Amino acid sequence: MTIESARSEGDTWDPASSVGATATMVAAFRAMASQGPDALLNDPLADPLVRAVGLERFVRLIDGEITIEDDPLLRREAMNEQIAVRTRFYDDFFTGPFGATDAGIRQAVILASGLDTRAYRLRWPEDMVVYEIDQPQVIEFKTRTLAELGAAPTANRRPIGVDLRDDWPDALRQHGFDVNQPTAWIAEGLLIYLSHDAQDRLFDSITALSTPGSRVATEHFPDPVRTWGEHPEGLSARLNRLGVDLNISELIYPDERRTVIEYLTTHGWQVTARTIKELYAHNGFEYPDDEMTTAVGEMSYVAATLG
Ligand SMILES: C[S@@+](CC[C@H](N)C(=O)[O-])C[C@H]1O[C@@H](n2cnc3c(N)ncnc32)[C@H](O)[C@@H]1O
Repeated sequence: MTIESARSEGDTWDPASSVGATATMVAAFRAMASQGPDALLNDPLADPLVRAVGLERFVRLIDGEITIEDDPLLRREAMNEQIAVRTRFYDDFFTGPFGATDAGIRQAVILASGLDTRAYRLRWPEDMVVYEIDQPQVIEFKTRTLAELGAAPTANRRPIGVDLRDDWPDALRQHGFDVNQPTAWIAEGLLIYLSHDAQDRLFDSITALSTPGSRVATEHFPDPVRTWGEHPEGLSARLNRLGVDLNISELIYPDERRTVIEYLTTHGWQVTARTIKELYAHNGFEYPDDEMTTAVGEMSYVAATLG
């Protein structure tokens, strides 16, 4: 299975191609981690979404036809723990104890929502509005597929198909976004697919649209060039072992950039960062010992509040 991956300005995709296929890949991981009596996640819609995309390797993966037990990162248990740490962090950011909804926030924006089903599976307050933004074909695919499955959102879901390099704030306002209300934003697995200036513009827009008390969660890499510039081939090789011919090095922008923590702390946000190792320990998992995890090990998940 070869997935087209060369990037260009203004490129577009669906969930089966280019950056869109990475959304299907992480949904496949969530589907796997949602299987069995000891499931670490509960994302029942991930499985039918991945099947509907129809990329053969991901379907075989969730069917348990591809298993690699001699690799510390690709072992089934390790894959499930990795995606559980990530998913639980963002779930808790929204609806966990002391999360955004506990703090009274009633407006959420999921940037680069991909095949994320939080608008259908989290226990949102009754008056919650959840905006989802992704490429038009990704948004259209998910909305249509979930409607065909008879799935009902658990919040007032407002999907918006727009490129995050374009004027998405305008599209958001046109869909009813209230700039006078605090907002909870997440950008999960997005930033490496944006160039450094697109990343800065994204955070400029988030900051401009946020009233005090708004929150944002995303990932922080202290040295993105070292992490992504030196290791994408390693990551692609790992994925190839799973039968996924996705050339990550062509999809990402491993350029010099202002780090997330640097940006947020200099723009009025109070930042809390938890390293991935801390989050593994918090979940009761052992952090895998591997050269890839050593490289990515400096990564943190951050949550910030606008003062
Ligand atoms: C790794 S996936 C993550 C999806 C989702 N956040 C999750 O964790 O399941 C990356 C997502 O970023 C979206 N994306 C990347 N660049 C984008 C852009 N310029 N405009 C809109 N969406 C973009 C892709 O379509 C894809 O859904």
